[in-house]
Amino acid sequence: AYLREKKNKKINAAVFPVAGLGSRFLPATKATPKEMLPIVDKPLIQYGIEEAADAGITKMIFVTGRNKRAIEDHFDSAYELEAELASKDKRDLLRIARSVAPKGVEFVYVRQSSALGLGHAILCAKPALADEPFAVVLADDLIKGDTGAVQQLITASSNNEGPVIGLEAIEPHQSRAYGIVEIRERIGENVIASNMVEKPNPEDAPSNLGVVGRYLLPYEIFEVIENLPTGSGGEIQLTDALAVLARRDGVLGVSLQGQRFDCGSKLGYAKANIEYGLEHSEIGNNLRAYLAGLVG
Ligand code: G1P
Repeated sequence: AYLREKKNKKINAAVFPVAGLGSRFLPATKATPKEMLPIVDKPLIQYGIEEAADAGITKMIFVTGRNKRAIEDHFDSAYELEAELASKDKRDLLRIARSVAPKGVEFVYVRQSSALGLGHAILCAKPALADEPFAVVLADDLIKGDTGAVQQLITASSNNEGPVIGLEAIEPHQSRAYGIVEIRERIGENVIASNMVEKPNPEDAPSNLGVVGRYLLPYEIFEVIENLPTGSGGEIQLTDALAVLARRDGVLGVSLQGQRFDCGSKLGYAKANIEYGLEHSEIGNNLRAYLAGLVG
């Protein structure tokens, strides 16, 4: 409620970096964007869009690249398909096809023509934003829970104008896969970070709290990114830009509720298909019986 009263702080836009090659999922991703791989029957990116729309976001900005046109087509209307389903009176399917793009939401596409890192991808979205705070959603991190992760960040941010990031406790040996925060202060389950390090070795990790792919960023992050040197992996890192703001003012880290699936990995992707499958109205019961038979 607080956020709605303070119009200047409402988050209206979300950035989805989707230019990555998805090479970890070859051959599936040879001609198909990895964001279009389904979890049961819905592409990964659609879960992210629905999560953002549920949090009141109305402008979805994709930072896209070559071979990603399927994403644009997915969120557009499909005239032939709809006409065909209508003529055969397949109303349920027609409804599904038509409800892919949430109502009242606009889609904007910008291109990242070279893979210079997540920070650079975010910078590519600058022309699509007004001077406003915005969310970033990495669709690879699929978070299943009662309240969407973007909404959790917005709720936690209430009187905080600075950056907000999603966090999860990770195993020490996983530190090389995450941005890791240095803790200045704990506030209940959440923290104020005083610094952040991208993909440190376990012995250099400042805590066991890893950044998961949900962020609320102030517009000034662009200026910070523009002045960054290249970081981990020779890329322009969003974590490094956030580290600048963390050292200056602190960054709010929100311990996210829900079960996270790393759908950038094959195992996480397989687990997500099972968990979402078990809850699926069409196949849930049969899948449960099948799995019970496997382990029984
Ligand atoms: C990115 C970020 C990293 C973050 C991670 C979450 O890394 O750079 O800080 O912890 O997403 O999934 P990537 O997984 O794209 O290598």
